[in-house]
Amino acid sequence: MYDLNRVKSLLQQRRPGHSLPQALYNDADIFDFDMAAIFLRSWLMVGFEVELPDPGSYLSLTIGKSPVVILRDRDGIIRGFHNSCRHRGAQICATGRGKAARLVCPYHQWTYDLAGRLVYAGRMPETFDRTPHSLGPIHVETVAGTIYICLAAEPPPFDAFRDKLTPLLAVHDLRHAKLAFESTLVEKANWKLVMENGRECYHCVAGHPELSRSFPTGAKAHFEPDEAGQVDRFNDRMARAGLPVGPVEGEWWQAIRFPLNEGYVSLSVDGRPLVAKPMCPAEGGDIGSLRWAVEPNNFNHALGDHTFMFTALPVGPEETIVTAKWLVHQDAVEGVDYDLAALTHLWTQTNLQDRDLAENNQRGVHSIGYRPGPYSDDAESLARRFVDWYCSQSARFIDAHA
Ligand code: FES
Ligand SMILES: [Fe+2]
Repeated sequence: MYDLNRVKSLLQQRRPGHSLPQALYNDADIFDFDMAAIFLRSWLMVGFEVELPDPGSYLSLTIGKSPVVILRDRDGIIRGFHNSCRHRGAQICATGRGKAARLVCPYHQWTYDLAGRLVYAGRMPETFDRTPHSLGPIHVETVAGTIYICLAAEPPPFDAFRDKLTPLLAVHDLRHAKLAFESTLVEKANWKLVMENGRECYHCVAGHPELSRSFPTGAKAHFEPDEAGQVDRFNDRMARAGLPVGPVEGEWWQAIRFPLNEGYVSLSVDGRPLVAKPMCPAEGGDIGSLRWAVEPNNFNHALGDHTFMFTALPVGPEETIVTAKWLVHQDAVEGVDYDLAALTHLWTQTNLQDRDLAENNQRGVHSIGYRPGPYSDDAESLARRFVDWYCSQSARFIDAHA
């Protein structure tokens, strides 16, 4: 169990603009603190509405040590529940994706409807009242086809995020997409090292030769107008096409549409689209990338031809599961409109390279010679933003529980 005074002292040791003290990257108690202070309190992006096509379709995953299930109910509404039986607590839905008319606990078959109500409990006395034994609900929100959950009793405000992201994202028509591929990767690194790495492109030129062809690796946080005028020209072109570019941001989220490198219409190795049928037909799909990112553990790129999602779920102090998802237009046919290996190549390579970087970072952070070092304002402002956010959330949690 974590000691709040110890965490407070570690946070106080942090020098502004520097990476974190060692224990915050490798300590088992700090991991428990992170789950309580960050993952059980924040909005987390978990996927897309099209992953739950029918009543009873569900997605089951575990946040920290808490299994949750997100499902579509009989009215088409997406709901979330603690995936823990109200009898003796067994996990009800197996981890992964599935479909069920009712949720039946595998232990003693207590059965819940899609609204979470207990509808069957065998061999209980006639006087047994099922009503107070519904599944515990969790908060669920959707934005333009994307799904977010929060396990806190009182989640952070969500409306500003929805209001600002919707006009940027709606044109990608994610409610008429399909999941083309999903991958998971286990990284032997603390989740914060995984996310710091995912929030900067300082390492991209050396670390990601494929991604660096299309991705503007030298860009600053908000893709400020550049000397060559590329950003201005892109923004003018998007304005004429009626596509907002942002940037927009709140405490725990950001979004911006930015231009890819000259000659690249997708995040692809050769610059050409990876999917013949676009998700957003404006400008022939040549619309740069809409990047949106949600603290603590997610970023996404919506391009003209496909959408990519990255989330990192911590499972231990030095173990993190990275889930990647690729979406294409629902009518795009594999083998006709896209080649699956080609579609997934760039981010598969990039994720493997990032895994190696994060694991190598973790090894070095273990050193008795490790000292927190400074972030580059030019190249790592979003990594610093992430760490600053982590520290302020943690401090807020400690104050609230002191
Ligand atoms: S624990 Fe679920 S039915 Fe017994
Ligand atoms: Fe990377």
